[in-house]
Amino acid sequence: MKRIVILISGRGSNMEALLEAQVAGALPVTVAAVIANREDAAGLATARARGIAAQCVPHQDFGSREAFDAALAGVIDAFTPDLVVLAGFMRILTPVFVRRYEGRLMNIHPSLLPAFPGLHTHERAIAAGCKVHGATVHFVTPELDHGPIVIQSAVPVLPGDDADRLAARVLATEHVIYPRAVRWFAQGRLAVDNGIVRVDEADAQQFLLIDA
Ligand code: GAR
Repeated sequence: MKRIVILISGRGSNMEALLEAQVAGALPVTVAAVIANREDAAGLATARARGIAAQCVPHQDFGSREAFDAALAGVIDAFTPDLVVLAGFMRILTPVFVRRYEGRLMNIHPSLLPAFPGLHTHERAIAAGCKVHGATVHFVTPELDHGPIVIQSAVPVLPGDDADRLAARVLATEHVIYPRAVRWFAQGRLAVDNGIVRVDEADAQQFLLIDA
């Protein structure tokens, strides 16, 4: 059974979706730990209530990104994960950290990458007049919110949407695609070829399309 460590910064609803899939038998992994960079991350309590080891490495205790990332890596490595899962982890990671976990570091980002890397993706999609928006699970590379795409979800942008309504529509799809992506990894089905992710599974759907 592959071991995963989940990194969060806040609510942790993607973490919960992963934990629920695991409990339901749909995600063959051991969740070794949940780690947050903020003590007030609500997801820490959720994880503890489910009996998962949950720790905080407060980023403000460190004088530099390098020092924080080194401490974080030390805590992560103590749990010997096969995969590190960023689930709403809102810290920019140093290239040294990213390279350490190359090929075993996944992120979910709330846009159809390569559109809208960075913050405020839902506001920016509405402001750009996008008709479709979504989320992306990708392997992490040193460039922020880039890296080989494992799976994407797409939802319509509806008249009258504000960022919150659109975010909620996208988030519901995140909870479907992230467990699927992590399951593929856990089952050894993912291969990256020249930056393109292929899934070794019959009829694997690397997309989720939600109708209006
Ligand atoms: C999710 O929408 C996730 O895609 C986004 O933060 C939210 C976390 O929600 N991640 C990023 O913006 C990373 N750049 P959650 O804590 O409820 O999973």
